[in-house]
Amino acid sequence: MTYQYILTKIDDDGVLIITINRADKLNALNSTVLKEIAAALKAHVDNADVNGVIITGAGKKAFAAGADISEFANFDAAEGRDLSVSGIPIFKGVETYPKPVIAAVNGYALGGGCELTMACHLRVASENARFGQPEVNLGLIPGYGGTQRLIQLIGKGKALELLMTADLIKAPEALQLGLVNYVVPFEELMPKCKAILAKIATKSPVAIDKVIQAVDGYYTDGVDGLANEAKLFGECFGTDDFKEGTTAFLNKRKAEFKRG
Ligand code: COA
Repeated sequence: MTYQYILTKIDDDGVLIITINRADKLNALNSTVLKEIAAALKAHVDNADVNGVIITGAGKKAFAAGADISEFANFDAAEGRDLSVSGIPIFKGVETYPKPVIAAVNGYALGGGCELTMACHLRVASENARFGQPEVNLGLIPGYGGTQRLIQLIGKGKALELLMTADLIKAPEALQLGLVNYVVPFEELMPKCKAILAKIATKSPVAIDKVIQAVDGYYTDGVDGLANEAKLFGECFGTDDFKEGTTAFLNKRKAEFKRG
């Protein structure tokens, strides 16, 4: 499938690489980009050849420098709300995708770009990455979950500081705050993401999905996280992965889980 603003590729290790491909606009997220990311994820959700996903930006300058300001500059209140309401499920779809999703942050991750990295399960940044939620410079606030996920990742005090000052932070500070999992030299960015996915790919795909859904339950209104965990825990029993994992352990061999 071909897209207008993203590139997709499945590498030899079963990693779906989604590249936001608008380098001349610093990979700004217009509504088509977001729809295409959602479509690419959906297209491979049941693809047994895909173990995990990396989302990155084209070029060396930006992961994504925000939502596309030119797209919404003339919006009124209703259109602004609709922009957020239509984007939030796309970000939630990334956050609850049943296969691991890593943001490979290769430059600016600002506004909606920072929000997209936060919807991913893990974040690996290159040394030149910059993070921030500069919406208040535009008379705006984040609209794709940024006010919520930033608190979850770095805590209320620092989140409020970044949201109110619009400060951009460099990769080492993002690491220190827990906003990213790793910081690596630019040339090691994709290898590091692939190494993490390769390790996860040796585990039970059923269990990885349930880990993602169980953790998400903590952050979902109306869900009792412990009860949800118990339900998901129970669902693991009787699966082929459970049989393989426990049998392999008892027979002192390495488990080999089926994909898909
Ligand atoms: N939306 C739309 N276009 C954007 C964009 C965005 N969020 N961010 C960058 N661009 C475009 C610029 O308009 C410019 O396009 P042009 O060449 O057609 O004029 C191009 O990308 C390059 O950006 P430029 O500003 O010239 O690069 P820079 O190196 O001088 O500055 C930034 C980089 C990231 C500091 C600056 O682009 C910026 O502040 N972007 C907006 C960040 C933001 O507010 N994000 C939150 C949006 S809700």
